Amino acid sequence: MNLLTTLTSLPAAPAATKVSYRKRLQRFWEQLEPESAAILVSSPERTRSNDTEHPYRQSSDIVYLNGFPEPNSVLIVTKFDGKQGIIMLVQPKDRLKEVWTGVREGVEGAKENFFAKDAHPIENFDEVVAKVLSQAEKVYYRFDMNPEFDEKFNKLWKTRQKPLLNPEGILHEMRLFKTEDELKLMRFAATVSAEAHRRAMLECRPGVTENQLQAVLEFVFRAYGATGPAYGSIVASGNNAVILHYTRNNQEIKSGDLVLIDAACEFGAATGGYAADITRTFPANGKFTPAQREVYELVLESQIAAIDKAKSGVPLMDVHEAACKVLRRGLFKMGILPTASAKPPKAKANAKKQALELRDFYMHGTSHWLGLDVHDVGAYDKDNPGDRRGKKRRLLEPGMIITVEPGLYFDANDKRVPAKYRGIGIRIEDDVLITESGNEVLTHLVPKTVEDIEELMA
Ligand code: GLY
Ligand code: MN
Ligand code: MN
Repeated sequence: MNLLTTLTSLPAAPAATKVSYRKRLQRFWEQLEPESAAILVSSPERTRSNDTEHPYRQSSDIVYLNGFPEPNSVLIVTKFDGKQGIIMLVQPKDRLKEVWTGVREGVEGAKENFFAKDAHPIENFDEVVAKVLSQAEKVYYRFDMNPEFDEKFNKLWKTRQKPLLNPEGILHEMRLFKTEDELKLMRFAATVSAEAHRRAMLECRPGVTENQLQAVLEFVFRAYGATGPAYGSIVASGNNAVILHYTRNNQEIKSGDLVLIDAACEFGAATGGYAADITRTFPANGKFTPAQREVYELVLESQIAAIDKAKSGVPLMDVHEAACKVLRRGLFKMGILPTASAKPPKAKANAKKQALELRDFYMHGTSHWLGLDVHDVGAYDKDNPGDRRGKKRRLLEPGMIITVEPGLYFDANDKRVPAKYRGIGIRIEDDVLITESGNEVLTHLVPKTVEDIEELMA
C-alpha cells in the first residue's frame, strides 16, 4: 500500500500573507523611539559534524516581521525624521554557492519579496551599520542571538556609545497577541499535530517501538507540509514517562504499559513557523487498568478544571492553582498526600521524613505561552519583564495562547506510593486560545477521555 494514500483529508493549509507582514512591520516601527534604529540579526547556522549542518531555523523575531528564511542576514528598521526605513543585509546571489546550498533571494529578492527599501550584501555589514549608528540617537539590539554579529556590532557600537534598547520589549509583546492570520496558522499546526496523535494511537500495539510511533508522528507532520517537529518528540512508554523530557525513544512498548506522547509540529514558514504542543497518554494495548484509569481520570479532571479557569482577566498562575487543587484533593483521597491543602502540615520536631507535597509528583508548571516558539516569548509578569518565568501573575487577555498540561509522575521505584501506582506517568496537554467570551481548545481533535481513547484504539 502507498503510505501517502492513507492520509485523511484535512482543511487546506493557510499561507502567511504579505499584508500581515506589512502590518507587523508598521506596528513595530510605530512603537520605536524617534530617531532610532532596530537591528535584528538572523540565527546562526549550527554545525552538526564535518560539512553537515543542523536544519536551519530562522530567528522567530525575523520569521514574525518579514519571514526572511536565510541565515547570515540582518533586518534593520529605522525611524529617522519620522520616516520608515527598512534595510536588509543578505547573502548575495552566487551561482557556485547556490549549487551547494540552494537558491538565495539576494539583494533583489530582499527588495521584491521581503519589504526592504534598501538592501546590501552581508559583506557590507560594517559600512551599513556604521552609517545607521551615526544617524541614530538610540539603537535597539539584542546581544546573545548570534555571536558573530555581536562581535561585529559591538566593535562599531563601542566607538559611538548610543543608548542601547532591547527590541524584545516591543516585539515580544506583539508576538504574545495572535492576530487572525496567525491564528489560521496556529489552528493548522494544532490540527496536523492532533491528526498525528490520532494516527500514533491507532498504530500502537504491544511490540511496536517508541521509535516507530515517533516515525508515525513525524511522517504525519511532514506529509501535511509542516516544517518539522516544533521540539524533540517525546514517546515514552512505561516508566520512561516519568522522565519529563525523555529523548531516547528506543524501547519496545509492552502490553500493560501506558504510552506518553508529547509531540507536535511547527507550520507556516520556510525555516520556522508556528508551534503546537500536545501530550496524550494512552494504554499500549488499548485498555486502561483500574489503577491507570484512576490516575488518568484525576489528571484529566485537573486539566479540565484548569482549562475552565483559563479566561480573560484571570492571572495565569490561577490556571496552575486550579489544576493543583484538584490533584492535591485526589492524591489525598488516594492516601498519598497527608492533606488536600496547599500548605503541608509542619513536620514534627522528631519526624524523620518531610511530609509529601504535590510537587513530589507534579514538578512542572501547568502553562507556558505558545506561538512561533513552543515556549514562546512574552512577559509572564508585566512589572518584571526581565523575569522570563516570573510568578505568572499576568492577567490573561484575548489573543493569548497558552498550554494547559498537568501531569502526575510515580516512579517505578518510589516506595512512598502504593505499589499499584508505581511506574505510572501521565500528562495531558492542550493548546488554549483565550477569547473574548472564554476560550477555544485548538487541539480538541485528539481523544482525551478514557472512553474516547479506548474506542479509537479498539
Ligand atoms: N513539549 C514541551 C512542553 O510541553 O513544554
Ligand atoms: Mn508544553
Ligand atoms: Mn509538550
